[in-house]
Amino acid sequence: MSLVDSTRPETRRERYGQMADAADRRFAVGAVAVPLALPVVGYLSGSVELMFAVHLFLGAFWFGTSVIGAVVLGPVMGGLSEDANAEFARGFVPKMTLLMEPLSVGVIGSGIGLAAMFGMWASPTPALWAALGLGIALLVLGFGPLHTFTIGMFDELAAADTDHERLAELNARYGMLSMVELVLMLAIVASMSGLRWGY
Ligand code: HEM
Repeated sequence: MSLVDSTRPETRRERYGQMADAADRRFAVGAVAVPLALPVVGYLSGSVELMFAVHLFLGAFWFGTSVIGAVVLGPVMGGLSEDANAEFARGFVPKMTLLMEPLSVGVIGSGIGLAAMFGMWASPTPALWAALGLGIALLVLGFGPLHTFTIGMFDELAAADTDHERLAELNARYGMLSMVELVLMLAIVASMSGLRWGY
């Protein structure tokens, strides 16, 4: 089903149903299941090497996707005409919404689990506290305001009478906050470097 054929969702259930359809059901299942299952598999395997690989894979994926979104795709979309922008966003917004939230949980969960496997929580270093604090801040941002703006955009895109003004406003706010997200992410990567060198 294409988003163009749907109407503004009225309930949460309806919204997520439409979102999964618009993103493609198989994509939706993979986007939610893989980032959440990998850290669990890594932790239960008891292999620190596997858990490290999972954390690196998910961390690189999240960081890379965020940078591309904020630095490349955001400005490209901003430069398109109203209709072209909405057309692009109809494909982009559902997939990104379904992917990024589980991915953030997977990265932070795998980081916490990895630190546990290394026995680092017995005497956490400043860099580990910093990583935890920044991770929580990223989750609050992602599941709080960023989520609200994204579902607002989704609802407008699904509506037959898209309110382009509201869409642009939400998009602009999203763009601003994703810069804050990027700064927090850079800080967390700096704290990863700190962990590596024992700080
Ligand atoms: C955007 C989020 C994150 C990204 C992109 C990321 C990325 C990375 C990278 C590239 C490494 C390898 C470098 C190294 O060995 O230090 C690493 C290691 C590690 N990360 Fe993360 N990480 C993130 C979040 C977290 C969080 C929230 C925690 C825990 C609270 C965490 C805990 C760890 C631990 C314990 C290591 C191993 C450190 C060591 O080798 O001594 N990470 N992470």
